[in-house]
Amino acid sequence: MSRGTIVLVDDDSKFLETMSRTLEQAVGDNLEIVAAGSSEEGLGSLYRIRSEGKQLDLVITSQALPGIPGTRFLEIVQSQFPGVIKILVSDRPNLEEAVYAFNNAGLDRYVSKPWEPEDLKFTVTSLLRQAAMRRTNERLLVDLQKRNAELREALRELKEAKQEVENSYFSAIQSLAVALEAKDRYTAGHSQRVSRFAMMIARGLELAGSEVRTIGQIGLLHDIGKIGMDERVLNKPGKLTKEEFEMVKQHPVIGAQILAPVRTLDGHISGIKHHHESWDGTGYPDGLKGEAIPLPARIICVADSFDAMTSTRPYRPGRTLEEAIVEMRRCEGVQFDARCVEAFVSILQREAGPESTAPPKVAAAG
Ligand SMILES: [Fe+2]
Repeated sequence: MSRGTIVLVDDDSKFLETMSRTLEQAVGDNLEIVAAGSSEEGLGSLYRIRSEGKQLDLVITSQALPGIPGTRFLEIVQSQFPGVIKILVSDRPNLEEAVYAFNNAGLDRYVSKPWEPEDLKFTVTSLLRQAAMRRTNERLLVDLQKRNAELREALRELKEAKQEVENSYFSAIQSLAVALEAKDRYTAGHSQRVSRFAMMIARGLELAGSEVRTIGQIGLLHDIGKIGMDERVLNKPGKLTKEEFEMVKQHPVIGAQILAPVRTLDGHISGIKHHHESWDGTGYPDGLKGEAIPLPARIICVADSFDAMTSTRPYRPGRTLEEAIVEMRRCEGVQFDARCVEAFVSILQREAGPESTAPPKVAAAG
């Protein structure tokens, strides 16, 4: 690392010589001392030092100089060589002069002649130490800002990668949901319809847009836990045996387990796990009761049951809209949350019109 530099400016050669010697003793090991007899010569030295790529540390000048006075010289130094420490030495201390130099030339210290060599040493070494600390702090700050920016970038990339993994996992699960429905042509489109009905109910309950979207996704995935279950049991037209029913009852829990690795789907999992709970506590898997059942699960329950009632099966025709509404109302406070039923019924009646007996149409799965 190159040595730093101190530039001394005074037209009194004796004073210059004394000061050079004093500084040489104090900081001569680390700094080169350059003496100049006038402001013009001092500026010439400063430009030369900079053009040689050396570090400029300190300028000490007298106020009383032939040509450019010390205060004006330091103003030029301030604008051309920012960061250099500046000391102004005056034969006749003058408050106005000092204030001017502090305000306009970024003066660091104002001193009066005569100067005790020990005072000079102390002032110069302490100012140099402060400047070195300031430079170190600035370097550390720049380094810290750079590292922070790198960290932020790494975090952003990590989030993107995580989102990508979760998106592809979500797409894979959606494909599974479509595959699940393909196993039985009578339930084709069921998840899409449940999704749409659930969103209608959520909007009727005036939930926020993001909640409505989440509930729509829960509708698409609510029966994902049936993947891998025996389709003869799932599609059995008659009553299930006790063992068969116990197996089917596992699907909400299995569905929740399938989605568990996707952190962004945390809000979906309880809706899937509890969509077969009953308002009166007789449902499964946990026998939750009333408002202990998560609202998305209560909504899916109504939407799921409505689609099951109105869909035609090989062994029975689908119910009309009126019949389904009567049935949902009969089960209010027993199987269903009355608020969800009422919100759904008012939308169904408004959308269907007074004459209609058919359930609302939903586009088939793509
Ligand atoms: Fe289900």
